[in-house]
Amino acid sequence: MVFVLCDKNTARYCYPVIKSKLPIHERIIISAGEKNKSLQSAGFIWNQLTERGTGKDSLLINLGGGMVTDTGGFAASVYKRGIDVVNIPTTLLAQCDAAIGGKTALDFKNIKNIIGSFHFPVAVLIEPAFLKTLDKRTLLSGFAEMIKTAIIADKKLFRKLSNTEIIPQQLQPLVSRAVRIKQNILKQDPFDLKTRQALNFGHTAGHAFESLMATRKDYLLHGEAIALGMVAESFIALNKSLITVKELNQITDLISHHFELPHIAEADFDKLFSLMKQDKKNRKQEIRMALPEGIGKVKINTKVQPDIIYSAFQYCNFALHS
Ligand SMILES: NC(=O)c1ccc[n+]([C@@H]2O[C@H](COP(=O)([O-])OP(=O)(O)OC[C@H]3O[C@@H](n4cnc5c(N)ncnc54)[C@H](O)[C@@H]3O)[C@@H](O)[C@H]2O)c1
Repeated sequence: MVFVLCDKNTARYCYPVIKSKLPIHERIIISAGEKNKSLQSAGFIWNQLTERGTGKDSLLINLGGGMVTDTGGFAASVYKRGIDVVNIPTTLLAQCDAAIGGKTALDFKNIKNIIGSFHFPVAVLIEPAFLKTLDKRTLLSGFAEMIKTAIIADKKLFRKLSNTEIIPQQLQPLVSRAVRIKQNILKQDPFDLKTRQALNFGHTAGHAFESLMATRKDYLLHGEAIALGMVAESFIALNKSLITVKELNQITDLISHHFELPHIAEADFDKLFSLMKQDKKNRKQEIRMALPEGIGKVKINTKVQPDIIYSAFQYCNFALHS
């Protein structure tokens, strides 16, 4: 049996575009938004699969952004110990990052991606036309992961992004470059034991920002949180003499040009720090980060002291709000 997993928006905007090109299938629709990257959604999917007598030889097609590919990927990875998955990513973020590489995840107890598995899709099919129905904020969120890719691996791409408008026509041609960079990293380390951690630049702080704000009115989209995380972690890279002041300014300027990021209240610093202590890259209770080494290279597994992290929060406020 073939199932197509959509969220409410991809059911409306994307499914009609490809419906006729899909094999005979049944649909499963979950609610949209990060708050639904949850055990409840996974339970709903398992329930639908079980009720329809789904066999181990079935296929789940994830049609959506990173929320759908992460949730559907996780649900499929453990259903009958794993059924095949095809990803058809529909956001910029999912096309150049989330749908590729086999990481699946759910958020749990308000902590990002704390439940998850590796489950590599048998195929990833990218349809550029899907970007046309994304709103500017969601496109920008994907642009943040593109900036990350450029900072860790491709100086030329960084220069290009500095002169790119946030419109589908200009972003589409850059997707394949971002995909190739991620694939190269994955080839070396598919299971995130070492070099793949490079892709986590901006995410140690970023996931903490995302989790902290998740239940607030001014919640952050994933890419927005990563953009703020990249500003914080680039400051830490400067502190460790991995980048120059000029490079820090280039990164901060590109991000502040596009994103309106929140001021971080001092009252939240401790909470953010304790969220960062949950990060999967940490070892022996020490916070470890992937930090840029200039623009276009990255140094993984760098131990970071708490006082530098608190200074980085202050730097974000100074650089983005003064
Ligand atoms: N597994 C990984 O390797 C990996 C990597 C990066 C990010 N992620 C995860 O990805 C998630 C973020 O993904 P996202 O930014 O795609 O968010 P998302 O999936 O929540 O999509 C954002 C919004 O756009 C809507 N949408 C999707 N496609 C649309 C389309 N074509 N037209 C109109 N609306 C559309 C969705 O319904 C949603 O409301 C986060 O949970 C993050 O942790 C995972």
